[in-house]
Amino acid sequence: MNQILSKSATVAGVDIDWWRGAVIYQIYPRSFQDSNGNGIGDLLGIVGRMPHIASLGVDAIWISPFFTSPMKDFGYDVSNYCDVDPMFGTLSDFDALVETAHGYGIKVMIDLVLSHTSDQHPWYQTSKQDRDNDKADWYVWSDPKEDGTPPNNWLSIFGGPAWTWEPAREQYYLHNFLGSQPDLNFHNMDVQDALLDVTRFWLERGVDGFRLDTINFYFADKELRSNPALPKEKRNANIAPSVNPYNHQEHIYSKNQPENLEFLGRFRALLEEFPGTAAVGEVGDAQRGLELLGQYTKGNEGVQMCYAFEFLSKETPTAARFAEVFADLDRVAAEGWACWAFSNHDVMRHVTRWDLNPAAARAYATLIMCLRGSVCIYQGEELGLAEADVAFEDLQDPYGIEFWPEFKGRDGCRTPMVWEPSNRNGGFTTGDPWLPVSPEHLHRSVADQESEPGALLHHYRRAISFRHSHKAIRRGSHGGVFAYGNVLHFTREHEGQEIFCAFNLSDMPVTHALPAGDWVTIGAELGSTAPGPDGNLHLGPWQCALALKQ
Ligand code: BGC
Repeated sequence: MNQILSKSATVAGVDIDWWRGAVIYQIYPRSFQDSNGNGIGDLLGIVGRMPHIASLGVDAIWISPFFTSPMKDFGYDVSNYCDVDPMFGTLSDFDALVETAHGYGIKVMIDLVLSHTSDQHPWYQTSKQDRDNDKADWYVWSDPKEDGTPPNNWLSIFGGPAWTWEPAREQYYLHNFLGSQPDLNFHNMDVQDALLDVTRFWLERGVDGFRLDTINFYFADKELRSNPALPKEKRNANIAPSVNPYNHQEHIYSKNQPENLEFLGRFRALLEEFPGTAAVGEVGDAQRGLELLGQYTKGNEGVQMCYAFEFLSKETPTAARFAEVFADLDRVAAEGWACWAFSNHDVMRHVTRWDLNPAAARAYATLIMCLRGSVCIYQGEELGLAEADVAFEDLQDPYGIEFWPEFKGRDGCRTPMVWEPSNRNGGFTTGDPWLPVSPEHLHRSVADQESEPGALLHHYRRAISFRHSHKAIRRGSHGGVFAYGNVLHFTREHEGQEIFCAFNLSDMPVTHALPAGDWVTIGAELGSTAPGPDGNLHLGPWQCALALKQ
């Protein structure tokens, strides 16, 4: 039905296609494991917990930023791209992390935030001084309009205008996020070269790839034209909460510029010098996300994968929604490659967001592992952690502080991992955690679930293992994705292997027909059901049926 089939390819003995269908475990380092008692997770903490990560059977880890930073946006504001912030450790700790991960056969992807820096970055510190210095054009500067106001109507995702005044230059600078995150000027080739040097630095240090932050924000319109208003009926809250006026604009000039692809082409050419490396680009756009995904992942001209926002939505994805997303993907990104996630460090944890009961949480875990594309799971997702309740006094996220209480920010999904129930910090730290450990999380700790055979943690392991042991599920094409009422129905196919998948995404039992052919039930360990004596599938609430064609 769709898409080019992916064949495994090796270059110099390296599987350069390892990322296709891979399962990537996202680590938010501040909250994973503290090794020195300062209440903040660190790189050596990750090293110590590598056995847990390996036990999940994931292919790779993506570590959110650990670079030198004033931490105004918790590391997404970088002041030195080529060093580790002391709170996270040192470069040699990072080397130890890579070595340990590789020892377990796990790839390491790091999070490059190239679109903007911290205002403490030396590039910005120079740039802001006057209009003639050697970095004067490294950021997006603009004269005010005649009446002194900013050059256009662009808004910051984190609230307020996207422009802040710099008295020393008597000019405004652009920031799509916080005022302390000035946007780099990608129209300047020196900026691009400097960022590619940063990328090379980490490739030479042995990383296997990158998660690229906000890749559709790299370029701003050269003429700085105002964005048009977005009609109310076209708004959705996929990227920013509904109370955020950022949703009122169609961001055709402040982001999504065609030049993005040119830079991604240069980036890809650099990756090709290091066979087996890959990148997943985050594309944040509420209207054109999949279309951009198609452009940015087509052929070898951009990144290998794009991180899609479709299932980070507030609304629970129904069978019809999955069918719609895959139909759209086939239409606008047939040659592209998506990377799916239900949870991450920016959104409310999905068991809370979608109000999932345990059976539903299992069903969605099995389902994401059966989708075409690659998959990111977020630390704690394997434990079924719910969104933590963080009191206003404990809030750290500037985004939440700005929009409280209508939007509580991102701290509720960033509270520390829970490793053991016996101590009130869940084994995360011996000190005071930077965000409180949720008391409700303690009974869902790794140690608790290890000893309980029916726990979700084991289900995630089984679902990941199922994905890895069936090439059609991991890398195959799909023969269309269909919704029949609450049943999501699709087949996956690769090199002669064909697998049928059906998911009852509801609390009600349902009868569903198997497609014609000779099928053998597989995935009993995931609760997959065999057809009844009448030849039909009788799916219990949230049950799946997985079958291999003979
Ligand atoms: C990251 C956020 C960050 C923003 C600005 C993203 O999309 O995931 O955590 O605040 O980019 O860098």
